[in-house]
Amino acid sequence: MKTKIKGIVLAGGLGSRLFPLTKVTNKHLLPVYKKPMIYYPIQTLIQARVEDILLVTGGNAAGDFLRLLGNGKEFGLKHINYTYQEGEGGIAEALGLAEHFAKGHPVIVILGDNIIQDDITPYVRRFQKQKSGARLLLKKVPDPERFGVAELKGGKVSRIVEKPKRPKSDWAVAGIYMYDSHVFEIIKTLKPSGRGELEITDVNNRYLERGELEYDCLKGYWTDAGTFESLYRASRIVALGSRRKS
Ligand code: DAU
Repeated sequence: MKTKIKGIVLAGGLGSRLFPLTKVTNKHLLPVYKKPMIYYPIQTLIQARVEDILLVTGGNAAGDFLRLLGNGKEFGLKHINYTYQEGEGGIAEALGLAEHFAKGHPVIVILGDNIIQDDITPYVRRFQKQKSGARLLLKKVPDPERFGVAELKGGKVSRIVEKPKRPKSDWAVAGIYMYDSHVFEIIKTLKPSGRGELEITDVNNRYLERGELEYDCLKGYWTDAGTFESLYRASRIVALGSRRKS
């Protein structure tokens, strides 16, 4: 596989679970402690030296991303690429919009509402050593029913279920995914789920069926910030984390 990995930050969707906070602005522009939410996933990529970045936005106030991020000077970047997702067709649909940007390179995809404490550099390096396939990051959580849940058997992922009512494990699939360039072919074959979205869990299960799915486990904190509860928690854990460092 080509070695240069390209970064994709997904900040589409309508943020309906945060209404009315998202009535006039985009979920990913809301504050998480001292910074707009979108800063965290961008910084996670940059820390791993992934600097060729596409931001997929959508919904409300898409132009505000340009006002906020510009060409990424504040992050030490020379350039940021942007594209727009109409509607809320799912994470895999938003990723599909990045095909022209990826140009046959492997990609690392991060959800715009995921906040990760780990420096992901070692996981990215391990992915680059894989010949092909996908790599996920897992985290044990107390509320797995809110996430994609990975069942593990003999040190391998045996199944991933999206938001199971009765989860068979407490390993959540974090919103950060590494894929070879086949991901775009896989996305074209997906059908919308019960909630009318192209699901990233279906993409991951395709790699699993091919025997090409690897994973690492996150060590530090990880949270999404897409509900009132998790948005509040995200601010709290980031604040606590930064106080401990100082
Ligand atoms: O946070 C990790 C979880 O994210 C995973 O464990 C799940 O498997 C995965 O499906 C996803 O679950 P959610 O239902 O919580 O995702 P949500 O719809 O909140 O979308 C998360 C981000 O993905 C959102 O902040 C922006 C991006 N997104 C989402 C949708 C639906 C898009 O860019 N476009 C979209 O159409």
